[in-house]
Amino acid sequence: MKSIILVSALLLAFCHGEPSPTIIPIEGGVQGDGITTRYWDCCATSCAWDQIVHTKNGQPVQTCQKDGRTPSTKENNAQSGCAVGGVAYSCSNQVAWLVNSTLAYGFSAASFTGGVDVAQCCMCVLLSFKGQLAGKQFLVQVTNTGSDLHQNQFDLAIPGGGVGIFTLGCSSQWGAPETGWGDRYGGVHTEEECNQLPADLQEGCKFRFTYMEGVSNPDVSFQQVQCPSELVAITGCGDLE
Ligand SMILES: *[C@@H]1O[C@H](CO)[C@@H](O)[C@H](O)[C@H]1NC(C)=O
Repeated sequence: MKSIILVSALLLAFCHGEPSPTIIPIEGGVQGDGITTRYWDCCATSCAWDQIVHTKNGQPVQTCQKDGRTPSTKENNAQSGCAVGGVAYSCSNQVAWLVNSTLAYGFSAASFTGGVDVAQCCMCVLLSFKGQLAGKQFLVQVTNTGSDLHQNQFDLAIPGGGVGIFTLGCSSQWGAPETGWGDRYGGVHTEEECNQLPADLQEGCKFRFTYMEGVSNPDVSFQQVQCPSELVAITGCGDLE
């Protein structure tokens, strides 16, 4: 009987065919309960400043030129488009996507200490949503931090999620309204409003209304994990040393 159950389980796993990548927790890594918010300020992220990134491959997070596609050169990676005269912006591919119906990969700002916390740049964390989204997970690479973040706060990188404290980036990169698309904090209100964003950012914006079912700022539990190669391939920034 046991073997029949085992065989059926294996068949189900193979025939049902949702991808199921191996996720490797990091022993002794950060873990606990956290809160989430969302943002997309179009700025070069904090983990793009190479002097603060202490990762295995020593590379800062990739930033992009104004088109959101062309990589910034090493020399101008640090000059955020949110500062006057800056030229480095967020790359439009640093947004969430679905791996299967209960797992997404993406990017987030984070603080584990409260306030700016660049020591954790480029680590990966598996977030398990609570409440209405229970059963769904979001594996993010930390690409940013923030002076306005609390302890164990994940500020998920979701286009149209609100520009927050930096209002210059999206207007300079995309000609967005001065306080961003939708509300300065929280961003657009509906999936349709995502169509106000540049084409390259629309899918990433809709993630909030599809996978996240429009749930605002869900609580999470979190566990540090090894970074999937797909995330490292996008940011160029590897796991912590
Ligand atoms: C999605 O992938 C994760 C990680 O491998 C796995 O735990 C989860 O069961 C998968 N979801 C589905 C619906 O197959």
